[in-house]
Order: sequence, then structure tokens, then C-alpha cells
Amino acid sequence: MNSILIIDDDDQLRNSFVKLLTEEGYNVDQAASGEAGVNIVKNKAPDIVILDMRLPGMNGFETFRAIHEVEPRLPVIIMTAFGTTDTAIEATKLGAFDYILKPFDIPAMLSLIKQALSASRFMRSPVDMDTIPDKASRDAIIGRSAVMQEVYKAIGRVSPTDATVLIRGESGTGKELVVRAIYQHSLRADKPFLVINCVAIPETLLESELFGYEKGAFTGAAHRRVGKIEQADGGTILLDEIGDMPLNLQAKMLRLLQEKSIERVGGRENIATDVRIIAATNRDLEAAISEGRFREDLYYRLKVVTIELPPLRERENDIPILTDYFLYKYSEEKGIKNPGISDKAKALLSGYSWPGNIRELENTIQKALIFNRGAPLSPDDIAQVINEKIHTSDLKKENVDDALRQWIRKELTKKNNAEDLFDSCMDDMANAVISEALNICDGNRSKAAKLLGLSRPTLHSKIEKYNIRMETLVKEDN
Ligand SMILES: Nc1ncnc2c1ncn2[C@@H]1O[C@H](COP(=O)(O)OP(=O)(O)OP(=O)(O)O)[C@@H](O)[C@H]1O
Ligand SMILES: [Mg+2]
Repeated sequence: MNSILIIDDDDQLRNSFVKLLTEEGYNVDQAASGEAGVNIVKNKAPDIVILDMRLPGMNGFETFRAIHEVEPRLPVIIMTAFGTTDTAIEATKLGAFDYILKPFDIPAMLSLIKQALSASRFMRSPVDMDTIPDKASRDAIIGRSAVMQEVYKAIGRVSPTDATVLIRGESGTGKELVVRAIYQHSLRADKPFLVINCVAIPETLLESELFGYEKGAFTGAAHRRVGKIEQADGGTILLDEIGDMPLNLQAKMLRLLQEKSIERVGGRENIATDVRIIAATNRDLEAAISEGRFREDLYYRLKVVTIELPPLRERENDIPILTDYFLYKYSEEKGIKNPGISDKAKALLSGYSWPGNIRELENTIQKALIFNRGAPLSPDDIAQVINEKIHTSDLKKENVDDALRQWIRKELTKKNNAEDLFDSCMDDMANAVISEALNICDGNRSKAAKLLGLSRPTLHSKIEKYNIRMETLVKEDN
């Protein structure tokens, strides 16, 4: 369970915090002074710390420094009120995870806590390579295929250098795991590591997140803010989804890579920085360049060392050991005996094309285990999950498009494809459209025909042709 240490001398605030976080499922320790807090850090090794700036005795800033000395990678969230923001900013410059102004709203704090916990895990929980870990709570990069051997070699080669690394691969192929392995084997393994997700942060905020800003740089900039790059000084930054970075920021990134310096938004000062950049993307950067969405000069700077992660369908031999690994991991997590998997179910997994790659395989095993009652996973257990993924999802257009494309991809990359692939896909589409229309119309064929703009006989013949059988059809109209 994730553990959080709260250091605050305000009993009331601390107690309500402890209550809230315990209810959220965290393991919480508390200290009313900096001295007591540092002791807990030494003895109990919490995953993150929430620290108030105004403390009696050892003040917040000194407490931060002491904690940082014990464990420089421990994410510390600083709580600050007006009057102590300057020291909070100083602490961020020295590597505090972030600061939040009091009074803060709870969702914002909970989201910051989640980010800090994930950063903590990223830096401090080791990633094993090519061995199934002894504890299921540890993460590992599993795979023995020749392409994965190349990936391990590349990780070994680039880790102990300061080279910029570009990691490419479809979604779910393990890019983040590889970044973690590189960081953990790097010369900067005891220095901070920060992730910036270029898609998740709105374009307008991304620049100030990365580069920080000066007071008065724009409306609402009441204080100076230290950006992530400055905060990670001496350490490493992952620019996740870099293919989606807006062009104006690409120019600033290029400058950072070339000149190793930045300017805060609204600032003139040139700030020297020493960060190692690792970038990841699932985009086709070459296409983005030719469409004018990605700078070619930045691309060349980034791709000095490139690690290409293969899609799972290109390393089918790894599917069985990945399956065994996830079975082991999630049975242990659920506290059940590993039920194993039947040979037929394994064959089904090997024959599927995994458009969502390892993440999809992992989710499939995890879900299949939910309803399992101890018998080895059967083809039905697996098929149920895979089909459900394809057929259901939120009815937002993007999701439906995604699911549809996923399904199409699956069909197109399936082994032993039919010769009339186009027609057979279209038949499946027609089947889905008609079934859904009938569903909506409660099985009433006249209504469904009207809805679809078909004559009733035409609809009838299509129902025959596509062999549509539904319970609702029994009701029939008339
Ligand atoms: N080789 C592997 N062995 C074991 N687990 C893996 C492997 N590759 C990926 N995973 C698991 O699959 C999931 C997705 O991996 P990860 O987040 O690293 O993918 P990604 O390439 O960064 O995807 P995205 O582009 O969507 O961000 C994670 O839970 C990760 O632990
Ligand atoms: Mg990722």
C-alpha cells in the first residue's frame, strides 16, 4: 500500500488530512514537527511527503533540505501560505516535487498526491529486465525475442551516458518501462526524474509547466513559478508524447538541447540547466515533419539514440511468457492461487493481433482473473474479455472510432485472412448496423427498415443473409 507522511504542526488540519487520506486507501504517518518528520523518513521510508512550510523549530525549508539529504528522490509536496511562497519556490528549485497554496481544494491535492506517488514509484521501484521478479509488486520488462534482446542491449549502452534518447513504439509497447530502466541504470539515478506529458497538459499551460514564469508574465501570474526543467536540474526529464508538442515549444526545446539553457516565460534571464532529456512517442515523426507539424532540426537532435519498441504482434513468441508473468503478478495481487491457463486459451492469445499491445494483454489477463474460480483460464474466459473490449466502450465518438479502428486493424492483421477481406469486413459492418437498428427499434422490422431507409423486404433478406439472430426478433412486429 502507498504510504504518505504528513508534516504539519496544525493538529486540526493534520488530523483531517490523515482521515481523508486513510479513507482514500493510503497508509498515513504524521509528524507535528520537522525533526519528528525527518526521523520518520529515516525509519519508515514513506513513498511521498506532504510538508508544511511554517513549522516551529526546524522550519519547512530546513526540513525539506534534511529530507532531501536522506533521500533525494523522495517526492515532497510543499504546502505554503502567502508569506512563505518564496521559500516554497526555493525548495522547488532544489528538487521539491511541487507546492500548493493554502487553502487548497481537495481534488487538486489528491491529484498532486497521485502524481507524486507515481513519480516515487518511477524513480524508486526497480524495473527488472528479462527476469520474472521475485516479488509480484516489482515491475519487469519481459520478453526473450531477438528484438527485445536488442532493446536490452540498447538500454545497457545508453544508460550510463548523458545522451538524449528517443523511444518509439506503438501505444502499450512498454516505452515508459524502458525509460524507467534507463533512468535507474543511469549516472543520474539518485537525482530527480520528472515526466511531462505533452498531450495531457493543455497547450497554454505546457510552456509554463516546462519553463516556469516570472511574476506578472501574464494575467494570473502572481508569483514566479519554477518550471519542471529547472526543477529537474541535475536529473532527467521524460518528454512523453513529444510528437504532440506544439511547434513554438519545439523551438524552445531545441534551444535547451543546443545551448543547455532556458528562459522563464516573461523573463530575460538565461538560466543554465543540466537535464538529460528522454523523449517518447507513438507518432510517425517523419510524417509529422513532412506535414510541417514537427521540426526536422529537433528530430535530428532527439534521435541521436533511438530505441524502437516492436509491437507485440511482431514478437508473438513472447506472448506466452508475458501471459505467465501477468498471471503470476495479478493472482498474487488478488491474493489467489495462480490458476494457470489452458493450452487452447494460450493459442487464442497467440493468434490475436493485440492492437493495444502489452497493455491490452495485461488488461485481458487481469480481467479474465476477476471472474475466474480457480480453473485454468479457458478460451471462453479470454474471448469474453477480448470481445467485450471490442464491442463496448463509452459511446463518445472518439471512443467508438477507436474501437472500430481497433477492430478493423485486428481483422486486417489477422493470420490466415480470407481472400475477400474487404467484403467480409463490410459484411460484419452491415451485420452490426442492422443488429443495432433492430435493437433500437425493439426488434420491430418495419421501424428498423424505416430507420435504415431500406424497404422491409430488403431488410428481411439482409437479416437472412447475415444470419442475424436476436431474442428481440422473436417479438416481431405487426
Ligand atoms: N515487456 C514488458 N513486460 C512486462 N510488462 C510490460 C512490457 N511492456 C509493457 N508492459 C506493461 O504494459 C503497460 C503499458 O506499458 P507502458 O506504459 O510502458 O507503454 P507505453 O509504450 O508508454 O504506452 P503509451 O504510448 O500508451 O504511453 C504497463 O502496465 C507496463 O508495465
Ligand atoms: Mg507511455
